[in-house]
Amino acid sequence: MTRPATKIEVAPPPGVKLPIFMDNHSTTPVDPRVVEAMLPYFTQHFGNAASRNHVFGWTAEAAVENARAQVAAVIGGDGKEIVWTSGATEAINLAIKGAASFLKKQGNHIITVETEHKATLDTCKRLQREGYEVTYLSPAKDGLVTPEQVVAAMTDKTTVVSIMAANNEIGVLQPLEEIGKAIKARNPKVIFHSDAVQAFGKVPFDVERAKVDLVSISAHKVYGPKGVGALWVRRKPRVRIDPLIDGGGHERGMRSGTLAVPLIVGFGKAAELAAAEMDGEAVRLRALRDRLYRGITSRLTETYVNGSLEHRLPGNLNISFAFVEGESLLMALKDVAVSSGSACTSASLEPSYVLRALGVGDELAHTSIRFGIGRFNTEAEVDYVIDLVTSSVERLRALSPLWEMHQDGIDLNSIQWTPH
Ligand SMILES: Cc1ncc(COP(=O)(O)O)c(C=O)c1O
Repeated sequence: MTRPATKIEVAPPPGVKLPIFMDNHSTTPVDPRVVEAMLPYFTQHFGNAASRNHVFGWTAEAAVENARAQVAAVIGGDGKEIVWTSGATEAINLAIKGAASFLKKQGNHIITVETEHKATLDTCKRLQREGYEVTYLSPAKDGLVTPEQVVAAMTDKTTVVSIMAANNEIGVLQPLEEIGKAIKARNPKVIFHSDAVQAFGKVPFDVERAKVDLVSISAHKVYGPKGVGALWVRRKPRVRIDPLIDGGGHERGMRSGTLAVPLIVGFGKAAELAAAEMDGEAVRLRALRDRLYRGITSRLTETYVNGSLEHRLPGNLNISFAFVEGESLLMALKDVAVSSGSACTSASLEPSYVLRALGVGDELAHTSIRFGIGRFNTEAEVDYVIDLVTSSVERLRALSPLWEMHQDGIDLNSIQWTPH
């Protein structure tokens, strides 16, 4: 038997520059058109949007109001309903803690889902420590929860339901419109919050259709700058929340602090571009994602897509490769920025809690790779990634005794492993 080579370099074709960024759920590069829109607000129009007495303040305020309208338009809301924050983590904290606190005389029960972002889960955990009760719904194997599940968990004490629109790891899209309808039919007073960070500007999301009261969004996931986000707060009927940050009473008392005008202008421009280009971009990204999926699965067996392929963000592919070691695979893909469900990418030793909630075993969770295809990825990059992933997995499997046994038709579950 010839020993397999220990290292196979797949040379990138002309036009493909390494490293390739294919981790667009973690963040996105700022679109140059966004940077251009922001620049005058650093040195020329640097006024404080709260300064009422001079033109510097008025210019900044006009830019902020324009950005409110640009951001709200993406989700079918009104600019007056936007509360600027430092990002979605803050928006989610404000939404859940603010609504729970405002409604604490009505009840102390919150409903969310096991696969939510940590910003939601850790917020809920803190509220539990303060005496609130939280129900964490388990999604089905495809990552989805049903309206029936949500309504079945509601009690007379329920005040807040928080369900994300699109998952950041597996990209699955929850049936928010059906869920919103069901929640409001059961009890219209319950506040429905959605973390729409990954859905915003990527797939259609409408606040009226989803019957949401609060929506958290972030600029840096849609080719805007880091450090700015927003909470959309319904005005009709008026939704009230307690603030987390007190001060000058900015943002209608819901979030005090001087506004980050250049960042807000950038978020506005990014939202305007997303609204104008979303449909075409979704078609292009879906085609690239499907190309990646077909390229990998036509050449490799024993690969498993995590989460529903049908109800999914256009640019997301999350796939596990059986019979390889997660860390070795990541090393082999070091020229391609992707994320992994493996513990080695996180501070904890547990593999992805999202994949666990779907019932994915630890072995497969460790070898999962999340590809996040975005605005600036090309077909040539996707083709290179297909070549690199398939040759790396083949090489690693060639080194694996378990893969050899599997190839020989041995059922690995039937083996009695004797400890030494
Ligand atoms: C689904 C989801 N929610 C919330 C956040 C937090 O957003 P931010 O980075 O703006 O605080 C992220 C980003 O990691 C996310 O993907």
